[in-house]
Amino acid sequence: MPGRDLHAQPFTEETLAKLRIFENYTQEWIPTFVMSGYAEICIFDFFAGTGYDKTGIPGSPIRILEQVAKNSTILFEKNTRVNLYFNEFIADKYESLVLACKSYIDNSPALSTLDKTGKLNVVYYNRDFADLFQELLPTIKAEASLVFLDQNGIKFIGDEYFIPLTYTQKTDFLYFIASSYANRFKDTGEFKKYIDFKPTPDENGSYNNIHNELVEYLRQRIPPLSGVKLYPFSIKKGRNIYGIVFGSSHIRGVDKFLRTAWKENPENGEANFDIHNDELGTIDLFNGVKLTKIKLFQSEFKKEVLNGHIKNNRNAYDFTLDKGHIPPHAMDVMKRLKNENRVSFLGNSPKISYEYCHKRNSVELVEYRVIK
Ligand SMILES: C[S@@+](CC[C@H](N)C(=O)[O-])C[C@H]1O[C@@H](n2cnc3c(N)ncnc32)[C@H](O)[C@@H]1O
Repeated sequence: MPGRDLHAQPFTEETLAKLRIFENYTQEWIPTFVMSGYAEICIFDFFAGTGYDKTGIPGSPIRILEQVAKNSTILFEKNTRVNLYFNEFIADKYESLVLACKSYIDNSPALSTLDKTGKLNVVYYNRDFADLFQELLPTIKAEASLVFLDQNGIKFIGDEYFIPLTYTQKTDFLYFIASSYANRFKDTGEFKKYIDFKPTPDENGSYNNIHNELVEYLRQRIPPLSGVKLYPFSIKKGRNIYGIVFGSSHIRGVDKFLRTAWKENPENGEANFDIHNDELGTIDLFNGVKLTKIKLFQSEFKKEVLNGHIKNNRNAYDFTLDKGHIPPHAMDVMKRLKNENRVSFLGNSPKISYEYCHKRNSVELVEYRVIK
């Protein structure tokens, strides 16, 4: 399957959206693991590119380095070592990658100090992902790992690569997928070799939902014993749909990814376009009003609280994340219900957060009582 050369021209707005999500997630991920006391953390960028685009805009490896630099104080305080694994298959791109990263480290006082004191270890590879992945898999599994799979097309979501990631315990991964390829190439033998997936068009004949469908297909492939959860972010460019799939077996990782995604698009938290026609709104059959994605969730959440299914802040938190929403969307509803005297709970805050609901030694459960 062909792939466009991302580095032959300036990064597009869609590529920048993807890179912002990668970078913002890295920004959340590093301090979480450092503050948890891990002696080593590892970030793998298997399709690292050249370091910068044609106009000097940083690509994923430079953005990762920037986030390491920003966290240098806590890395020293906690005595944590960062291992970065950067890979690029094309030889001249690999040369550019190494030069760009080395020069970036040399010019950054924070990174140079981390480097000289052995707290930063960067390993560069000029290998085919298919081989390197098998070699590095034991390290990915053993360490606290963040894995970027920014492939050109689609083939590396095949079981051979995807399934081992679902068996990891301390690994978060972000795949990039050219999801529209699943439609273009669905009947080719090459495609069928990797993925057994046939997209369905929506009622308008469009494939705007193809990335979500593909993520649903991947969810079905997760082995029963795996705790990994997947969340999509669709990226539209012209008529094509690309997307990110985030995977993690830890609820805190899911929380942080969803915050990143909602920051990228505060309207729907799952696409760089109006994937649910929120501008038009969805008709609420009972009230006859049009609901956006957030309002639709809030109406469902409210129903679950009032019918007694959501009994406390932990139920509220789990329900919210499960639906791909973030705690502030649920907090708004709880505060309103309290003001309207329909629900009571102790204190002023409904306490819907990872810290109050799941974090060891900081859990504070709050019961919600429906006022009849
Ligand atoms: C979408 S780009 C990644 C861009 C990069 N993340 C950045 O920000 O610049 C995919 C990269 O993977 C490289 N590539 C293609 N096939 C590969 C393979 N089998 N193994 C490793 N790298 C590969 C391409 O040369 C290209 O630079």
